[in-house]
Amino acid sequence: MNVTVIYGSESGTTKAIAKRIAAGLQAKLVNITAANPADFEQCDLLVLGSPTYGIGDLQTDWEDRIASLHNANLSGKQVAIFGTGDQATYSDSFVDAIGILHDIVVEKGAVIVGHTSTDGYDYTASLAERDGRFVGLALDEDGQSSKTEKRIAAWLAQLAETQSLPQAALSA
Ligand SMILES: Cc1cc2nc3c(=O)[nH]c(=O)nc-3n(C[C@H](O)[C@H](O)[C@H](O)COP(=O)(O)O)c2cc1C
Repeated sequence: MNVTVIYGSESGTTKAIAKRIAAGLQAKLVNITAANPADFEQCDLLVLGSPTYGIGDLQTDWEDRIASLHNANLSGKQVAIFGTGDQATYSDSFVDAIGILHDIVVEKGAVIVGHTSTDGYDYTASLAERDGRFVGLALDEDGQSSKTEKRIAAWLAQLAETQSLPQAALSA
């Protein structure tokens, strides 16, 4: 299976996470600053990652190149999203970038995989939370770095399992 991980990172945290996720999925790793249309489209599973900045904004490189996501043909494509954030300091906008990327790719017809539980987090509001769960993998290296390894491992196992399911089961 062909997997591409596209990430943005300001101070390196999300880059390091993206590297671990790409290694676990044997995926191609691409910084959004270097991504071309084929990186979005020519894969079976597209994994997107961004930290949240400002108050609930995408990372700058993602913001500057968001047209590349809007312009990609993602119809029917499986997309998994991860994000880093700080739930203690930014409790009202925790990992909002996950939710922002989610809404764009859903509008493009993508099939979201890799939802996760909000158990174990302590925040007030998050755009990444829909119907009581995160629409991707939420990581907090500022306050919960000790939980990161387990969370990544569980998510990778979940994605691997999802890949073996028939398409019809994914949207169930
Ligand atoms: C100025 C600033 C604004 C931030 N805003 C948010 C936010 O709104 N929500 C959130 O969850 N984290 C927020 N964070 C935390 C970062 O997303 C977090 O530290 C992340 O791991 C940084 O990733 P990077 O090293 O890949 O850039 C903010 C951090 C800074 C410095």
